[in-house]
Amino acid sequence: MGLYYENDGARVYLEDNLELLRELPEGSVNLIYCDILYNTGKVFDDYSDDLGTPDEATEWYRPRIEQMRRALAPNGSIFIHCNWRMDSYMRILMDEVFGTKCFRNRIYRKHSRERGFYANFDSQMDIILYYVKNPRKFIFHELQGDANRIVPLYENGELEGRSDTRVVNGETVDLKALNKHWLVSVPQLADMEHAGEVQLINGLPYRFSKVIPVGNLWDGPEMLDTYTRTDTAEAYDTPKPEAVLDRIIRIASEPGDLVADFFLGGGTTAVVAKKLGRRFIGCDISRKACDVTVGKLEKIRQDQ
Ligand SMILES: C[S@@+](CC[C@H](N)C(=O)[O-])C[C@H]1O[C@@H](n2cnc3c(N)ncnc32)[C@H](O)[C@@H]1O
Repeated sequence: MGLYYENDGARVYLEDNLELLRELPEGSVNLIYCDILYNTGKVFDDYSDDLGTPDEATEWYRPRIEQMRRALAPNGSIFIHCNWRMDSYMRILMDEVFGTKCFRNRIYRKHSRERGFYANFDSQMDIILYYVKNPRKFIFHELQGDANRIVPLYENGELEGRSDTRVVNGETVDLKALNKHWLVSVPQLADMEHAGEVQLINGLPYRFSKVIPVGNLWDGPEMLDTYTRTDTAEAYDTPKPEAVLDRIIRIASEPGDLVADFFLGGGTTAVVAKKLGRRFIGCDISRKACDVTVGKLEKIRQDQ
């Protein structure tokens, strides 16, 4: 048990994640992604996905989420991947541990096409809860495209704290008087202004940029699971597609940053982190999961 593999900035531990988490220095990890146990009750050949009732499962997660928060860098982000069984419980737990202001979004990832179920709607998506340690300072790299886009920086309705008067390009904008509010904070607006992206049209603020909008519905074909639920798995039963991790790691970390996954599985996070030039730390209680991950990391190393 303990450190299982270390090479080229990637470390894999064969141990319970709570043990590893307790040993991590405070503020040392830039980005955490965990595809946690969904608590389906299913038994796989190398681990059991059964944590008891939702309340029991929540208490199992509590010290782990607390330690993840402690280990996160002051401007770090965390993405917790779960599904309908645990998502509401995890949302409340994360709100308690991180604070409601640190919640950024709930991402819906379509994992499969309709399969046809009995007397119910087919579950086709899972959920990624996205939090940051500090809502005023975190990494979010917007994806840049070629097309110019104009996006309003306001919405209708007065909103406390967001209907303040601001000066844009030397002109005073009083959204409260127009019964509107700002969609961005003062520092975010300042960044956009600094980049020369903000313009007023009929006295209202708009952003002109080449940023590709990314919504919280991730339903592209590249986001679908690559395995089927009935075939025999080749290396690992339930890997997430690399596209999910590619998007998260590109947006929420910098090259050279430390990315962590405390529920390694087939090592998708480790693989994508390595491909994108990030350092990696991760663990799994299953030797098979560690072996599969190490095999993939070594293959990338040899191919590079
Ligand atoms: C859903 S799988 C992760 C799949 C992964 N995202 C992928 O792309 O392959 C969850 C993993 O968590 C591991 N696990 C379960 N309990 C754990 C614990 N207490 N500490 C560390 N890993 C654990 C299981 O062995 C399993 O490999």
